[in-house]
Amino acid sequence: MILVVGNTKGGVGKTTVAVNLAVLRALAGRDVLLVDGDEQGTASLFTQLRADTLGKPGYTSVALHGAAVRTQVRQLAPKYQDVIIDVGGRDTGSLRAALTVADALLVPVQPRSFDVWALDQVAALVKEAREINPDLRAMAFLNAADAQGRDNADAQQALSEVDGVEGLKAMLVRRKAFPNAASQGRAVTEIQPRDAKAIEELGALADIAFQ
Ligand SMILES: Nc1ncnc2c1ncn2[C@@H]1O[C@H](COP(=O)(O)OP(=O)(O)O)[C@@H](O)[C@H]1O
Ligand SMILES: [Mg+2]
Repeated sequence: MILVVGNTKGGVGKTTVAVNLAVLRALAGRDVLLVDGDEQGTASLFTQLRADTLGKPGYTSVALHGAAVRTQVRQLAPKYQDVIIDVGGRDTGSLRAALTVADALLVPVQPRSFDVWALDQVAALVKEAREINPDLRAMAFLNAADAQGRDNADAQQALSEVDGVEGLKAMLVRRKAFPNAASQGRAVTEIQPRDAKAIEELGALADIAFQ
């Protein structure tokens, strides 16, 4: 299964979600390849920090950019059970290349109007990629959502109206556990104090994304 965590917007939680999913799947006993397709290299930094603190990250990590995302992932994918690709926050060659080889795209969207509108741009990229990769599944979910209030429901409604992209009911609420864990090179499942809600939400998202 090749999963891209992508959006043409930056700062929406792509890397956070990609690294948490990589750790979660690896801890579940799967052979995981994490591809850092962002020149900023945040996922690679996370993996380096993780290796430094834990001895080994528990998954394999590579950095690939542009067309190499397509050719290398094609070559490497049969050796792994799960391939998770983190991309940069723009319409990049890496994102386009990733969409042509992936089984699924998972799009974090923050429940604010500019972010929801940007999903149309992602939907256009998905449509284009499906000409080459017709079975590409595309899912959008709310990340860094409010703990309460109406905005989530309104944003979810807006997600569900975007053509060609499935709007998921699963969402991640904005929780300190995510940055806290990342700064230690860990997933939210691995830190103290334990944030049961963050763990539950991430688990539910992973179940749907890897279905
Ligand atoms: N669910 C969340 N709760 C709290 N903070 C979050 C959450 N998701 C992401 N963040 C924070 O938002 C910032 C941007 O996230 P990041 O994963 O780097 O986004 P991207 O890769 O899309 O640019 C980071 O500081 C990250 O810790
Ligand atoms: Mg990132």
